[in-house]
Amino acid sequence: MTLAAWTRQLHRWIAILFTLAVVANFAAIAIVGEPAMWVYMLPLPPLFLLLFTGLYLFALPYLRRGRTPAE
Ligand code: HEM
Repeated sequence: MTLAAWTRQLHRWIAILFTLAVVANFAAIAIVGEPAMWVYMLPLPPLFLLLFTGLYLFALPYLRRGRTPAE
């Protein structure tokens, strides 16, 4: 698997983790009212990873030498 394909796959699966963390936040707020601080922080690590893998995916078409993204 190329680095690009691997990064795209990683981005997809981290997106699922991020979504679950956001859902857990809403559930925790609905159930206990005001959950512990760490519950609010739960989506941040996956979001941080999404930012970097996403920026890499964004840059990929521009990094390919001799081609433009439209081609
Ligand atoms: C935090 C900043 C983020 C950046 C900069 C970013 C950027 C990108 C880029 C550039 C692509 C590739 C688009 C393409 O050329 O096909 C992509 C794909 C994708 N992103 Fe993100 N993204 C971010 C966050 C997220 C979040 C929060 C989610 C969902 C919870 C998400 C879910 C996805 C999915 C499912 C794909 C498609 C992956 C695939 O093609 O297999 N991303 N993202």
